[in-house]
Amino acid sequence: MQELPENIRFIGVDDPTLDLFENQYPVSEGVSYNAYLILDEKTLVLDTVDARAAGAYLENLHEALQGRSLDYLVVSHVEPDHTGALRLLLEAYPQTCLVGNAKTFKVLENFISMPPAAQLLTVKEGDTLPLGRYTLTFLMAPMIHWPEVMVSYEAATGTLFSADAFGRFGSRDAGADWDEEARRYYCSIVGKYGTQVQGLLKKAASLNIQRICPLHGPILTGDLTPYLDKYRCWSTYTPDTEGVAILCASLHGNTFAAAGRLAELLRDRGCPEVALVDLSRTDVSLALARTFQYGRLVLAASTCDGGVMPLMERLLGRMKAKNLQNRTVGLVENGSWAPWAAKVMRQALEEMKNMTIVEPCVTLHGPLSDGELPALEALAAALW
Ligand code: FEO
Repeated sequence: MQELPENIRFIGVDDPTLDLFENQYPVSEGVSYNAYLILDEKTLVLDTVDARAAGAYLENLHEALQGRSLDYLVVSHVEPDHTGALRLLLEAYPQTCLVGNAKTFKVLENFISMPPAAQLLTVKEGDTLPLGRYTLTFLMAPMIHWPEVMVSYEAATGTLFSADAFGRFGSRDAGADWDEEARRYYCSIVGKYGTQVQGLLKKAASLNIQRICPLHGPILTGDLTPYLDKYRCWSTYTPDTEGVAILCASLHGNTFAAAGRLAELLRDRGCPEVALVDLSRTDVSLALARTFQYGRLVLAASTCDGGVMPLMERLLGRMKAKNLQNRTVGLVENGSWAPWAAKVMRQALEEMKNMTIVEPCVTLHGPLSDGELPALEALAAALW
């Protein structure tokens, strides 16, 4: 299948040099700011790009328009990675009418002072905008990822312009494995808003979608079921991979060595996948993604300052903030004279929804001793 239908052009920009998305998520392969131009009886653009990419974007737009004027700019999402070139676009094409919903223009005012003569078209759920051969239908998608977000569906081609939904970190063609960076992106960006994502999936189920055009990452074509299935899992906090994730914060390496031993015990018991995550060397966004990926988790941490090592505290904070729920969790703590980490981890888990803590909780007092091994074996048996 063609990536984009006739007369719909990609005018977005890859940004391979960006190191931190939103100044917080490491993106070793950068990110893409996607934008699309529909050349019909009317011309319409869906979204601009981050200010970093404004020059390249405007060049792409200018070239693709081939001398035509621009009738509409749809603002699917106001976050600056999609409106950073909006003001420049309006300067270059001042007659362009901005299309958004009531919230769009309210939020937009906070970021951009609009030219007094700017034309605004306010749309609501189900409104349509005929362009000639193509017609856009607007569907509200609040909190995916901001309250004003809306997606657009073009029925003649089965194209869903999905805003942030179904996006992915990395440039548009970075690697073939969509799941890994799409999962980390999902958890980071919209993980908290599972209910709202389910609402969008419900709307999507009534459409004949042939391709998904997100604002980041590749355009999705062909069999869309795997992508929709992943979104169903993530939005319902259902694990998408069978196995166990061991998330470890280790001050001197002893807790990590014990975590490695636990991974071996689990594999010996037939666990198909064990993801061992060293929180000292793994960004918290990837650690969080592992907690969404697997249904059974082990939190293993050193005691520190009468509490838990801060790296684990940070992960627990992200798990709670992103509404992670319905997990089975084993605990391993380490502390030579006053082990306290498990108490703190247990308390944090009790503040989340439907987290089942399995026994035994394993307490180490430095390197794993022969006397402590049976408890680790019992934890492995309780988990798999
Ligand atoms: Fe890609 Fe929420 O902005």
